[in-house]
Amino acid sequence: MANDNDTFKKIIAHAKEYGFVFPSSEIYDGLSAVYDYGQNGVALKNNIREYWWKSMVQLHDNIVGIDAAIFMHPTTWKASGHVDAFNDPLIDNKDSKKRYRADVLVEDYVAKIEAKIEKEITKAAKRFGDQFDQAQFVATNPRVIAYQEKADSILKRLGQSLEKEDLDDVKALIEELEIACPESGSRNWTEVKQFNLMFGTKLGASAATAMDLYLRPETAQGIFVNFLNVQKTGRMKLPFGIAQTGKAFRNEIIARQFIFRMREFEQMEMQFFIPPGSQKEWHQHWKKTRLNWHLSLGIPAENYRFHDHEKLAHYADAACDIEFKFPFGFKELEGIHSRTDFDLSNHEKYAGKKLKYFDPDRNESYTPYVLETSIGLDRMFLAVFSHAFTEETLEDGNTRTVLKLPAVLAPTKVAVLPLVKKDGLPEQARQLVDMLKWDMATVYDEKDAVGRRYRRQDALGTPFCITVDHQSLEDQTVTLRDRDSMEQQRVSMAEIPALLAAKVNPKQWLLKR
Ligand code: GAP
Repeated sequence: MANDNDTFKKIIAHAKEYGFVFPSSEIYDGLSAVYDYGQNGVALKNNIREYWWKSMVQLHDNIVGIDAAIFMHPTTWKASGHVDAFNDPLIDNKDSKKRYRADVLVEDYVAKIEAKIEKEITKAAKRFGDQFDQAQFVATNPRVIAYQEKADSILKRLGQSLEKEDLDDVKALIEELEIACPESGSRNWTEVKQFNLMFGTKLGASAATAMDLYLRPETAQGIFVNFLNVQKTGRMKLPFGIAQTGKAFRNEIIARQFIFRMREFEQMEMQFFIPPGSQKEWHQHWKKTRLNWHLSLGIPAENYRFHDHEKLAHYADAACDIEFKFPFGFKELEGIHSRTDFDLSNHEKYAGKKLKYFDPDRNESYTPYVLETSIGLDRMFLAVFSHAFTEETLEDGNTRTVLKLPAVLAPTKVAVLPLVKKDGLPEQARQLVDMLKWDMATVYDEKDAVGRRYRRQDALGTPFCITVDHQSLEDQTVTLRDRDSMEQQRVSMAEIPALLAAKVNPKQWLLKR
């Protein structure tokens, strides 16, 4: 697992070199915080989206999917609170003229304290070896306790100041912590100001009549405004969910960390409509269900943690993030928010239309509460991609770069390689490709020596390679090579489809949890 800046740079370079992610409009020197997915990236992204959709929609008989438009009536964003409250606190450094998110400056400071704790733990683990009890060490070591208390108290104060919109105190905190501008090194800061993150655009041909629109900053509102359409046409009974995936846009101030924070990105969201009063129970339920979805991919549990929010978004009465250990530390991957009846009630008010649910069991109408699960598809891509990126030194001293992607998500499931480009081996290999490609992403590759072809497939994350050799023509067997163990076994061609299907079928993965 990657854990430092150099490795992160290598991951970004690898994503470009192997056709996963390119800077947007690169021939014009790119556009900051906007990226394009290449031929392998789009396959990985589609597979993640499908894995999410299967688990959330196909496997839940009380969740249905929709696909709402990106453009929405502008009053949507007034009702949702985004016009008034979708702001980031910004601060400028007067010397470098660079603009920062004030909360992120403080969070980065805290991340440095957390890195010190990690260092203490690593040192102690080395010292005590097998005897090391991490939980006990963290609970009793005075240095670690002091670091943790400091980090907690800074985050608490930041949360409280943001909650109260006390921007002067956020600036005071930055000054007290002596945070300097990473660019100029100076502490010459402006006041902290709020900045709205929505992109505006216009609908209509003439300047006089054009209507001001926003590009949606979250997909969720397309679900809220369709709540009654879906409930009535689908004859849905509470509790039920509406899911969708799609693009969202935010004028993010901090454009770094690759596809972690983008200006155009994709979300996978589900709004679960529930009777008021049951939100605590459903919050627990969805926290557990969503974490299990992540764990089903086989990435070890220590890479995930829950983080309960101190500062709540304008619509929430409780919120929890699933954080992932990215190469630059633990950061938010998914949010599980208890949104109360904030959105539906406000749409009722602004649209002047009833958005109530008639509960046949209670024989009354009410505005449902909502539990939301919201994950960034691009951020999930970065999580699996960065975790999969591995540089190995082999027994013979050679090195290889391998993407140990979960087979269910890998862009290509199997590569079929004729050992040589003659003697009927390409024809036999192509027959195998023609048989397999109906059920899984399959490629044919005959270029270069077979060892180099294996390395290339390793770097692309292809979990299986099949080599067709002269023996294949005689007894209809091939070698099947496993990406991670590099073990090869001789198997009959007839067995291949069932053997591979068992390894790449989402069912086998989703059933693990
Ligand atoms: N509907 C709720 C909502 O949008 P959020 O916490 O602002 O909540 C949800 O966003 C998820 O969307 C985040 O956990 C993250 O994975 C993803 N996300 C948010 N902003 C993003 C950005 N600028 N670039 C990439 N992903 C982003």
